[in-house]
Formats: sequence, C-alpha cells, structure tokens
Amino acid sequence: MRRMIAAAFLTLAACSGESPGPAKKPPATAAPAAAPVDGAGLFAARCAVCHALPDVKSRGDASWAAEVRRMVQQKGAKATSEEEAAIVRHLQQANGRD
Ligand code: HEC
Repeated sequence: MRRMIAAAFLTLAACSGESPGPAKKPPATAAPAAAPVDGAGLFAARCAVCHALPDVKSRGDASWAAEVRRMVQQKGAKATSEEEAAIVRHLQQANGRD
C-alpha cells in the first residue's frame, strides 16, 4: 500500500512540471529573440514596459485574453502570437479564477 501511494505521488510529481523537456534556461544575458516561450517570464518582461505589472488576480480568464489582445493590438505591446498565447495561458492559470 505504501508503495502504491509513493508511486502515485511520483507520477503526479512527474506530471506537474511546468515546462516539458530539457528546461535549461539560457543565461539572462541572452538576446530577447532567443528567450524561451515561458508565459510567466514573458508576462514579467513584456507587460511591465509601459506600466506596473498588473495584478494577475485582478481579472478572470476571458477578461485576460481580451486585455492582452488589446495591449498587443491597440497599445503596441510587443509579443508574437505565440508569446501572446503563452502570456494569456500563464495569466489564466495563475489568476485562480474562471
Ligand atoms: C506599449 C505600452 C504597453 C505595454 C507594453 C503594455 N501595456 Fe497595458 N496599458 C498600456 C496603457 C497606455 C494603458 C492605460 C490605457 C488603457 O487602459 O487603455 C494600459 C493599461 C493596462 C491595464 C489596465 C486596464 C484597465 O482596465 O484599467 C491592464 C490590465 C494592462 N494594461 C495589461 C497589460 C498586459 C497584460 C500587458 C502585456 C501583454 C501590457 N499591459 C503591456 C500600455 C501598455
């Protein structure tokens, strides 16, 4: 029994990693273009350029998707569509709301 629980826990732990594959990050001095698609990192890097980083919990999932879109399309926030999607995913996971 103990063994099964331990095995289940290990499986869970193995699945909960944020980034699959070799997660070696490049050094902080790497050029922005080479940055990995890391939602949390992109949010911090791209969304505090013009104003303070907004509170992740201040919006629900749909609202974040619309807001990030608005920042990129109307305010001139720099993000590729892949990066935009990663930022939205991060916000939707971290906000603890629907
Ligand atoms: C190029 C500048 C710029 C960047 C980069 C930027 N924003 Fe903004 N953002 C603005 C400006 C200007 C406003 C205030 C005017 C407005 O809300 O239309 C604002 C307002 C906001 C607000 C407040 C809106 C409200 O309801 O009061 C949120 C939330 C926000 N930004 C989120 C983000 C996120 C998330 C990112 C990253 C994807 C981001 N911003 C990147 C320019 C920027």
